[in-house]
Amino acid sequence: MNEIFYETKLGKVYHGDCFDYLDKLNYNICITSPPYNMQKSSGFKDAKKYIYDEDLSYLEYEDFIFKFLHIIIKNCKKYTFFNLQRVAGNQKITYKIFGKYMTFIKECLIWIKNNPPPTGMNVDHISNGYEFIYLFAKNDYENRRFKHNNFNGNYVKNYIPTNINSHNKYHEIHKATFHPDIPKYLIKYFTMKTDIIIDPFAGCGETGIQCEQLGRKYILIEKELKYCEIIKERLILENQKRRLFDLD
Ligand SMILES: C[S@@+](CC[C@H](N)C(=O)[O-])C[C@H]1O[C@@H](n2cnc3c(N)ncnc32)[C@H](O)[C@@H]1O
Repeated sequence: MNEIFYETKLGKVYHGDCFDYLDKLNYNICITSPPYNMQKSSGFKDAKKYIYDEDLSYLEYEDFIFKFLHIIIKNCKKYTFFNLQRVAGNQKITYKIFGKYMTFIKECLIWIKNNPPPTGMNVDHISNGYEFIYLFAKNDYENRRFKHNNFNGNYVKNYIPTNINSHNKYHEIHKATFHPDIPKYLIKYFTMKTDIIIDPFAGCGETGIQCEQLGRKYILIEKELKYCEIIKERLILENQKRRLFDLD
C-alpha cells in the first residue's frame, strides 16, 4: 500500500491499485464508476482516448467487476453506488449483475442524459441516453424504506437527469468523468457528515470535489499518476476558492 498521495482536511488521495487498499481502509459508503472495458480493439474510433481503459476479454472483465463488487459490498456498511455505462465490451455484465447480486440490490438509479449524441458509433445504433447506477446495500435491502437517508422532506427520485458532460474541461482529458450532479445528488441525499465515502476508481476526482463542497469525509484511489496530479490540482483550487469566499 502506497503512502497518501495528497490530503485535505476532509479527504485522502491514494495513487495505486484499489485492490491493494479496499480491505485495509475504513469507509462505509462507496460512490464510483469502474473502467467500462471500451475495448480499443473493437474498432470504436474513440476507444483509444480512454487511455486508462483495459482491453480485457469478456471473462477477464467479468472477473474484475465481480471481484470488485464482492469486496466493496462486503466492506460498505451502508450503501455502494456503482455506475456502469453499457458499451460493447461490457453489455452482458450490466445485465448479469442484476441476477448475481439481486439479494443486495436495493435500487437501480438511472442517470438520464438529456442530450445524448444522435447515434452511437454507427448510423444503425440508437442513442445511448442513460446509464445504470446500481445501489447495493449489505444490511438494508429488505424493503423500499431507506434506513440511512438525508432526504429531509425532499422529493428524492430514482433517476438523475443531466446534460452530457462536454462543458466539463476534465471531460476532454479523461472522457469518462462523472457529471458533477451525479455524486452531488448521491452525497446530498444518501450520506451524513459522519460517513466516510470512498471512490476507488477516482479518475479526475469529481466525487472528492463534491465531498469538499458538501462537507463529507472521503477517500479517493486512482491508479494513473496523471489523474492523481489532476485531482491534487483540483482539490488545491477548490480549497483556495473556499478560503477566499470564507465558505468553511
Ligand atoms: C470510469 S473512470 C472514473 C471516472 C471518475 N468517476 C471521474 O469522475 O473522473 C475509471 C477510473 O478508474 C481508474 N482505474 C482503473 N483500474 C483501477 C484500479 N485497479 N485501481 C484504481 N484505479 C483504477 C482508471 O484509471 C480511471 O481513471
